[in-house]
Amino acid sequence: MHGPGSRNKLSPSHARYYPDDGLLDTLGRAICAVDCLPRKELHEAWEMATRIRTWLAGDTVVRVVDLCAGYGLLAQVLLLQGNDPHTTALAVDVRPAKNSVLVHAAVVAAFPNIAGRVTFERARLEDVTLGTGDVIVSAHACGALSDTVLSRAAALGARVALMPCCHRTRRRADLVGLADPAAVIDEERTMWLIERGYDVFVDAIPANVSAKNRLLLGRPRS
Ligand SMILES: C[S@@+](CC[C@H](N)C(=O)[O-])C[C@H]1O[C@@H](n2cnc3c(N)ncnc32)[C@H](O)[C@@H]1O
Repeated sequence: MHGPGSRNKLSPSHARYYPDDGLLDTLGRAICAVDCLPRKELHEAWEMATRIRTWLAGDTVVRVVDLCAGYGLLAQVLLLQGNDPHTTALAVDVRPAKNSVLVHAAVVAAFPNIAGRVTFERARLEDVTLGTGDVIVSAHACGALSDTVLSRAAALGARVALMPCCHRTRRRADLVGLADPAAVIDEERTMWLIERGYDVFVDAIPANVSAKNRLLLGRPRS
């Protein structure tokens, strides 16, 4: 097992990496016990949630909606890092990760305060019902899915936190030869949100957790 960006799955023997009583280590040990989640996914969710929570400080959060959720761990970590027991979460994926139920059960066993607060929906992000007050989050919604996440949020004027991946650079002659074409695409996404009345803060999770680490945080201007 290498660092926090390792794709190797966490197994019970890796609990030694999470020895303390804090939230991350308690969560880490719970996930090691179920022996199925790549280490990277735990740390991506943790780092992204930490930045979203800082950005949201002081906001009311009734519901978090995690689109293209996979295991739905981002939604769950956002509840764990929040201090409002009334906040709920919806994790949406057209093909939820195989062991998402197992992972959720382990998280609830370690943190009973989130029992009953997370709903999983097998659905396309295009079809799910969203609300203006939702905080819409999405980690590594591939390519154009990231744009659909932004479109769905902007149509409602909802807050949105997006960490894109798999940027579509093909058929973009203007990006040829650029050192970081993905940055240009994310700048375009930022401008797209600004034109629709958003304030956008661009952040990043540590590059040793994910190379696709840019985080766009959009909030409608009041
Ligand atoms: C790269 S994974 C990211 C999973 C998770 N957010 C993470 O960071 O580990 C992309 C996910 O998007 C889901 N997906 C693909 N098309 C979708 C759609 N139209 N609506 C909802 N989920 C979709 C896939 O099933 C997959 O779980």
